[in-house]
Amino acid sequence: MSLSRRAFVRRLGLGSAGLASASFIIGHGREELVALGFEDLELEAAMQRQRAAVPPDAIKLSSNENLRGPSPRVIEVLKQHPSADLGYGYPVPSRGAFTQALATAHNVEPQHVITATGSGAILQAAQRAYVTDSRPLVSGNPSYMRAAERSIPVNSDLYLDLDGMVDASDGAGLVFLCNPNNPTSTIHTLSDIETAVRTIKRRSPDTAVLIDEAYIHYATAPGVGSGDQLSVELPDVFMTRTFSKAFGMAGMRMGYGIGQPETLQRLRQAWGLGSINELQSVAGIAAIEDTAHMEWERQENKRIRDWTLSQFQEIGFGAPASQTNFIFVELGSPASEFREACRANGILVGRDFPPMEQTHARISLGRMEDMQRAMEVFKKVLET
Ligand SMILES: Cc1ncc(COP(=O)(O)O)c(C=O)c1O
Repeated sequence: MSLSRRAFVRRLGLGSAGLASASFIIGHGREELVALGFEDLELEAAMQRQRAAVPPDAIKLSSNENLRGPSPRVIEVLKQHPSADLGYGYPVPSRGAFTQALATAHNVEPQHVITATGSGAILQAAQRAYVTDSRPLVSGNPSYMRAAERSIPVNSDLYLDLDGMVDASDGAGLVFLCNPNNPTSTIHTLSDIETAVRTIKRRSPDTAVLIDEAYIHYATAPGVGSGDQLSVELPDVFMTRTFSKAFGMAGMRMGYGIGQPETLQRLRQAWGLGSINELQSVAGIAAIEDTAHMEWERQENKRIRDWTLSQFQEIGFGAPASQTNFIFVELGSPASEFREACRANGILVGRDFPPMEQTHARISLGRMEDMQRAMEVFKKVLET
């Protein structure tokens, strides 16, 4: 068992037998297993056990993946890319063009772009590069990066408490700003993020700031914007994004970040970020270029989100006005009971999000037909 996993297990009060049990594995999605320190083969084995225990027609609304999948242009490119090119690996022929496409999309230079096999790898690198016992992590609570020594509770509207996080950042190694925040689904304007980042850097210049924009494509609120330019301007400030959500390519394992070359070098040296291959490169370029598909994806997600939120409202359950492809519903009862009841009816919803696991559940948004089927189950489970 890895060191980090042992520490997590201790914190959770679980023995390794408890960890291996089917019910433990089922109750914990991929992100939870990664957080627990499951790696590579172990993670794959755990995920396979998880898949085997789930009915084949279950609807998966648990990991914020995208049930619509990628743009048809991505599928087309993957089918057509000449296989002979795959024989050239050093350097990967289309990788430079992929980095350039990302740079163009963000209006930065290729030297400001870092790629990884999943943005989760960059988050790992960030912790290893910047967080030590004496220079702790500052994160929202709940948020995607957990086990932070300085966990700042979200406010009563479930927004990150930016002022509280700024106050906690003096002498910190890393501040994690998840915008929009997973699991609460709320987002801050670019102007609020910029004020927070500049204040942190003024008060504590050596503190790094990670702006995680995994879900930002889904944000439709006014004033929302990317921290990309801020990341190019300020040392040890960087933004990360993923192809796993709005691009619908979680299975391709692709993510990237934007920052100053020195910042990105520090991340590369801290942790293996994986190597983007030829098929990932051509698929990534096609995905970035298909802006019409992304606009459709945003609108479709919003349509489904509005419908799902109004359905919950009708039966008396509130949730923040989500800016993501998931909602965080106030059940007023433990998420674990809701999760088990839904699972028994073929619907998988998100894991526990302490400290709100006694009151709130996270539900990812699938396709409209998935949500219509799921809503029948939610109503049955919540109204009995
Ligand atoms: C906020 C956030 N950041 C990063 C990730 C990691 O995504 P990936 O490693 O698939 O790119 C996730 C995955 O769920 C996430 O929710």
